[in-house]
Amino acid sequence: MEQTASASQNLFSDETRRWPPPPLLSVWVVPCPDLDQAMASFTEAGFDVHSLGPADNPSYAVMFASHPELPTTVRLDTDAYRRGRREPFLQVDLQHGPVQLASAVDWNPRVLIDCEGGNGDGTVDPVPTEPVFSAAADDTWIVGRAGMRYRDLLPGRWGGRFIASHIHIPNGGPVPDYVHYHDVEFQLIFCHRGWVRVVYEDQGEPFVLHPGDAVLQAPGIRHRVLEASDDLYVVEISSPAQHPTYIERRLVLPNGLSPGRRYGGQNYVHFVHDEARRETVGSIEFRSLGLESATGGRYSARILQIPVDARPLPSGGPGDFSLLVVLDGELNVELADGGRLVGHGQAVALDADSMSAIAVAGHGAPAPTLLVQRLHSPT
Ligand SMILES: [Fe+2]
Repeated sequence: MEQTASASQNLFSDETRRWPPPPLLSVWVVPCPDLDQAMASFTEAGFDVHSLGPADNPSYAVMFASHPELPTTVRLDTDAYRRGRREPFLQVDLQHGPVQLASAVDWNPRVLIDCEGGNGDGTVDPVPTEPVFSAAADDTWIVGRAGMRYRDLLPGRWGGRFIASHIHIPNGGPVPDYVHYHDVEFQLIFCHRGWVRVVYEDQGEPFVLHPGDAVLQAPGIRHRVLEASDDLYVVEISSPAQHPTYIERRLVLPNGLSPGRRYGGQNYVHFVHDEARRETVGSIEFRSLGLESATGGRYSARILQIPVDARPLPSGGPGDFSLLVVLDGELNVELADGGRLVGHGQAVALDADSMSAIAVAGHGAPAPTLLVQRLHSPT
């Protein structure tokens, strides 16, 4: 573990937020073996969900009760149970205090800190020096937030810096989502197959994402998934790997148009594949998602049509993280020690050295591939 991630600070220091969530100075942690069961019990007891995470496989939920005489916030936590805790305990954040234990018993639940980031405890591990391949596309899916199914595209989560998921909604129709937001440094949603109707804060009426379309979910932007087609597949890439998701209770979407507003230092981007300009690097055709200007040069994303004859990958610039997600067909990734076939729905993550050392080629046919890169690390 080498440094402290700071995603939480982004949200709380962002002056563009109208009402950032207050920091949590203390919370009663309730160890529980089954999060869904515990949430159901606390809901029945009059608690509401404030936030939960991680998104792909929730292990905790923060819930609150607004009783006028006894406001209470609890964190239902399966990790604490797994670590052997059985009794509720008071967790106090002394770093963001000052908190006096005498008053912590009578704490104010409106004050909230979530120190997650990276591995979940604010730390990250060293960056992998070898390419990281995801498992085959028919691997186990797990049920995450709002009933969506998730599949991990980035084993090891790049030391806690990134999470990349393939998300599947098998049965179309209204999605049981709610207005929410994520405390992230970076988050890209890419529609792979099917369609999904979504609505974003300040971006006007709901709209539909079709295959190849994407949204840069700038840090803290409120949004909601409304409706999906049968067999919707999206790719979601976020940094840091573990980050809180907050329920938005005051803002109703749609809430009008405020184009150009910045969220956590970034602009919102809605990329429409069929309207994007086609460019080329050598014989590789690509469409840029336009993330460079929206993120101050930190991130780049492009959809590449990788031809069948092997060639080096075009890079968006000197970066420390590149993720290739094969959208269709198969991709031959040729490394110094041999080649490897990456099927559709699979991914490979590369550091800067690996990125400059590989060649790629479509396997029998051009391979449309999403390439997402971090060009500059957050300071
Ligand atoms: Fe979301």
